[in-house]
Amino acid sequence: MNQPATPAVHAVRGTLVDFLDDPQVAGSAALRHIADGLLVIRDGMIERVGPAGQLLAQLPPGTPVSDRRGAILMPGFVDAHIHYPQTDVIASHGKQLMDWLNIYTFPAEGRFDDIDHARRVAGFFLDELLRNGTTTAAVYATVHKHSAEVLFEAAQARQMRLLTGKVMMDQECPPYLRDTAVSSYADSAALIERWHGRDRLAYLVTPRFALTSSHQQLKFASRLLDEYPGVRLQTHISENHTEIRLVAEMFPASRDYLGVYEDFGLVRAGGLFGHCVHFDASAWARMAAAGAVAVHCPTSNLFLGSGLFDIAAARVAGARVALATDVGGGTSFSMLQTMNEAYKVAQMGGHPFTAQDGFYLATLGGARGLGLEARIGNFEPGKEADFVALDLAATPMLARRTAQTTSIDEQLFALMMLGDDRAVAATWVLGRPVMPPT
Ligand code: GUN
Ligand code: ZN
Repeated sequence: MNQPATPAVHAVRGTLVDFLDDPQVAGSAALRHIADGLLVIRDGMIERVGPAGQLLAQLPPGTPVSDRRGAILMPGFVDAHIHYPQTDVIASHGKQLMDWLNIYTFPAEGRFDDIDHARRVAGFFLDELLRNGTTTAAVYATVHKHSAEVLFEAAQARQMRLLTGKVMMDQECPPYLRDTAVSSYADSAALIERWHGRDRLAYLVTPRFALTSSHQQLKFASRLLDEYPGVRLQTHISENHTEIRLVAEMFPASRDYLGVYEDFGLVRAGGLFGHCVHFDASAWARMAAAGAVAVHCPTSNLFLGSGLFDIAAARVAGARVALATDVGGGTSFSMLQTMNEAYKVAQMGGHPFTAQDGFYLATLGGARGLGLEARIGNFEPGKEADFVALDLAATPMLARRTAQTTSIDEQLFALMMLGDDRAVAATWVLGRPVMPPT
């Protein structure tokens, strides 16, 4: 893509908000808030961060400074579970998981047989992420090898940090969407060899869920994790009661749904397990012991009527948690809207969920969930300069509510409840403004 040149050193001024740790662990020390702050960027990386009053005077003469005073500058959002081929399925009415897959989702994924269609959707999808302030995502492709290829290519063209994988599915789905255990292994291995660790890209071994993989395929998924250390898994688990009953029938020897994945050696540190809605204390304890990551998908769990994620149980067990949209089961690309729904789900369980909890999960927490905290997630010097400007006056209602706030926590809470893509005034990738397009 043709981009205007970004100077090697430049700075952006605004209200800086980022997290140095999990507010659940570190309390108020987790949040860094600099009311009039400056981000100094060199070659796409954060070089310095601090009060504008101090840093402006130290900039080399002539350094361009973009003045975003009035906006909150925050690290780019991290979406830990989203399906790019379901972009056109979002907002499909009236079905719960198994019917929704069969009626809407599988036919839509079938269209990705056509690489040109896949390419068009990949471009729209990544631009939509960036428009919503999401600069990194863990993405499901389809069963087609080329669906992952074209997404990697589109992310590479945008210099985005992105993780994806070709879905592995060889049973219990339409014949036009099936691979085989052997072909899924070979295609995944070829994609890993070509893309994993290239530029800002990473591969995720992606068996869709227990129902759509043969024993042989699950063994091959585990073998890929053995053979390619550093490559992680993403899958679905314990989302819907019918799904859970079918898994129990198909895998009678396993102790429970998580036990199926355990039996195949798939529950490992950093593995991304989407949903985890109907877990008992044992499953939570085993997730925590493994260092696996429970990915909370609130808009999807509500939209598909799947259930309420128990964030308190995850916290008590010490399990790792990340936050995600799960589009197209999820109803919005916006991580602000996703935090909004996570708040309401926590309310339904009587559990606290602060604005700091939400913004932590959408930034540093997401980076930690994906094992990327050394590179992204906050404004520590040396990290990659992916960030957003959030406009507290983006809508009349947000402006009106914000005018009545007296603290940054109140402002963040208003943003999380009332904000969406309209609140994302601009997005930068590696220090380069990418949205709105210049
Ligand atoms: N379980 C298996 N596949 C899917 C999917 O595409 N979306 C959701 N929400 N759950 C799944
Ligand atoms: Zn999903």
